[in-house]
Amino acid sequence: MATVELRGVRKVFGRVEALATVDVRVEDRSFTCLVGPSGSGKSTLLNIVAGLESLSEGQVFLDGTDITRQAPAERDIAMVFQSYALYPHMSVFDNMAFGLKVRKTPSDVVRQRVEEAASLLQLSDLLDRKPRQLSGGQRQRVALGRAITRHPKVFLLDEPLSNLDAQLRFQTRVELKLLFERIGGTVIYVTHDQSEAMTLADQVVVLDKGRIQQMGAPMTIYEQPSNVFVARFLGSPAMNVISGRVARSDGDGLRLVAGALTTDLPGERLPDVPAGGVDVLVGIRPELISVAPAGHLTWNARLRLVESLGAQDLLYLDDEGQSLVAAGPSGLGAALGRGDVSFDVRPEAIHLFHPESGDAIGVRHRTSAAPWTIARPMEPDPSSGTTDQEERS
Ligand SMILES: Nc1ncnc2c1ncn2[C@@H]1O[C@H](COP(=O)(O)OP(=O)(O)OP(=O)(O)O)[C@@H](O)[C@H]1O
Ligand SMILES: [Mg+2]
Repeated sequence: MATVELRGVRKVFGRVEALATVDVRVEDRSFTCLVGPSGSGKSTLLNIVAGLESLSEGQVFLDGTDITRQAPAERDIAMVFQSYALYPHMSVFDNMAFGLKVRKTPSDVVRQRVEEAASLLQLSDLLDRKPRQLSGGQRQRVALGRAITRHPKVFLLDEPLSNLDAQLRFQTRVELKLLFERIGGTVIYVTHDQSEAMTLADQVVVLDKGRIQQMGAPMTIYEQPSNVFVARFLGSPAMNVISGRVARSDGDGLRLVAGALTTDLPGERLPDVPAGGVDVLVGIRPELISVAPAGHLTWNARLRLVESLGAQDLLYLDDEGQSLVAAGPSGLGAALGRGDVSFDVRPEAIHLFHPESGDAIGVRHRTSAAPWTIARPMEPDPSSGTTDQEERS
């Protein structure tokens, strides 16, 4: 068992408020990712859990026990530092074995744990080297290995893969996920990389300026971001955010206008819209913009540039001076050609945010539950006739 809980934790450094009253609960054997821009307080939060940083206010609990005043060594917690913090005079093997040796672990167990971690991290051939004889990515893996060998109750990992190349990073993150599942550790993992957070985490905590912006399962945050910051932080390419206006239409409905995009929204989305209408920020995920089927309600935007990423095409659009990105299957850009193209977006896929506070407003329904939005994002409604794409190609 290892749950971690932070209650009312606040940290100030002089005049800098690094964390502003944070409450987080991390379940036993779960994987929590802390994400946020540089300076948002991620390392500070980890250091507080590890006991390396004192608190200005609040308490930290491990398995329900208040450990706020416990020394780091008394906590069964291993941390991988952003700066690696390896012992320069020790070999890779001894660095990785260090935590076990100080706990008087039998030497055959030490060897077995180090070899297991070395194999996982592709360090088996480097065990006799000193840290200065390693590349940055190799050092980072030694730091990770040092935490893994201990099999502690809680792992705190501060950007543990940031210095690896894309392929090794991808491979290591899959292996890490499997390893933590096997050894049943509770993990708090800091990353800048939103795709790492989406793929690894059971729970994502989004921090900005020392405040939790949103906390929850990755898909919940992706589908129901609580504000523009979160909406744009998770998901790649980032959610489009353009300005628009919502007004009452005839009957009970609402009409949203954002540049050339005009669409009806159900009246209950924003029950309090005044007669004159309100300004909003309109959020649309690039992958939920589709090419409009012929004869369908259309949104004419100018296609300015196509980026082919191999598996995907990114279409850069201009909606009456506002820039957007749409993501579709590869080959789509070439089939469409430049110029005006009719696009479509389902009303459920539209997020609305307050133009000043950036907070999400109105009721939204789940979007990715609709099968076409997951599997074939750019394909038209099967009930309609030919598509623009077919007509042009
Ligand atoms: N020892 C310190 N003294 C003064 N200010 C500090 C100290 N440590 C951190 N800070 C400040 O607290 C804030 C949060 O820092 P922190 O290191 O937690 O950010 P971070 O989210 O880990 O950023 P990064 O992604 O760059 O690692 C920053 O404004 C930072 O300058
Ligand atoms: Mg940091």
